[in-house]
Amino acid sequence: MSRPVPEPIPGSVDTDTVRAAAKEFLELFQAENPKAGRMGARVAAVMREIDMTGTYWHTAEELAFGARVAWRNNARCIGRLYWRSLQVRDLRTVSDAGGVAGHCFEHLRAAHNGGQIRPMISVFAPETPFRPAPRIWNEQLVRYAGYEQPNGRVLGDPRYRSFTSELIQRGWRPPELPGAFDVLPLVVETVEEGPQLFQLPAQAVHEVPLEHPELAWFADLDMRWHAVPVISNNRLVIGGVSYPAAPFNGWYLGTEIGARNLGDSDRYALVPEVAERMGLDTSDEATLWRDQALVEINRAVLHSFRVSGVTITDHHTESRRFLIHLEREERAGRRCPADWTWIVPPMSSSQTPVFHRYYDAQNLVPNFFADPDAIHRALQGGPPAFL
Ligand code: ARG
Repeated sequence: MSRPVPEPIPGSVDTDTVRAAAKEFLELFQAENPKAGRMGARVAAVMREIDMTGTYWHTAEELAFGARVAWRNNARCIGRLYWRSLQVRDLRTVSDAGGVAGHCFEHLRAAHNGGQIRPMISVFAPETPFRPAPRIWNEQLVRYAGYEQPNGRVLGDPRYRSFTSELIQRGWRPPELPGAFDVLPLVVETVEEGPQLFQLPAQAVHEVPLEHPELAWFADLDMRWHAVPVISNNRLVIGGVSYPAAPFNGWYLGTEIGARNLGDSDRYALVPEVAERMGLDTSDEATLWRDQALVEINRAVLHSFRVSGVTITDHHTESRRFLIHLEREERAGRRCPADWTWIVPPMSSSQTPVFHRYYDAQNLVPNFFADPDAIHRALQGGPPAFL
């Protein structure tokens, strides 16, 4: 594979900003990769390239390092102990919608890895002054449709109610018998092709049916969740270069599914039904029926992933690992930005060690960014990035 031929830049590009960001990143790369040797010649070449084209092409090593450090710097992630293990798929020469979609499906297969989830990122063509990068509209590669019912309720994931109806208007045909876990098509937009829809092949979508270790009726709820969370609408930024299409995944923390996706009242809102089936007294908040039901849903999630052989962790274990990560970063002389509101698990918070302290809040690059227009596309299904 070879890189596309850059064109001389249009006058408008702010090369000073790109130059400064590139220098800062190359210094970091050198500091943390002593084997790479002296970078003087590399920095000079990058500066010339920026002056001529407004951007530059990372080496494969720089790209892999930059992606791993973007994870390390992401203040919202509790799972960063494993940042060095991120597998980086260098797909920077892929820029057509069909190519992006196909490699996303391959990403899902490779990251699932028979259940032993591999943290992984696929980096597609970068943003350049001469050609805008492709965009993936979906928030994650696998997301469930939410269908508005005549009674005003939603079948499926209410988070994607607007996204789903927008995709139907754009030509997506839901299954004949719509269900609560219909996988939405992937939307990939390029400047030449506009938004294109791609149905995910069944082999790319791994799911875990949910059952409870003791409550036999739990399986009758017919709940399931997908095995791999691949965030696909964040922009990866490394040394002044933007990669808007760079889907990445780790593995699930149980509470993301059990407490939020299934528990939130504006998502699958399972708590009242489970409490009812458990025979709890729901007439009085002080019985803590919500808390009891929530625990059982979360036990079901952890149990089901385990029996299905799919990697998952509980919030107690991952909290402890995060503090190990913090300690290691400190010892390496680095700051580790963390956002308390994202790091602290949504249940039994005070039982996890991450609750009882404060964190460094600053933003570091490389990093992943959630752009407002990308968030809007992922929830509302548009407007297109390239009109
Ligand atoms: N919270 C999101 C979800 O429930 C996933 C975010 C990323 N999570 C992760 N473990 N890497 O789908």
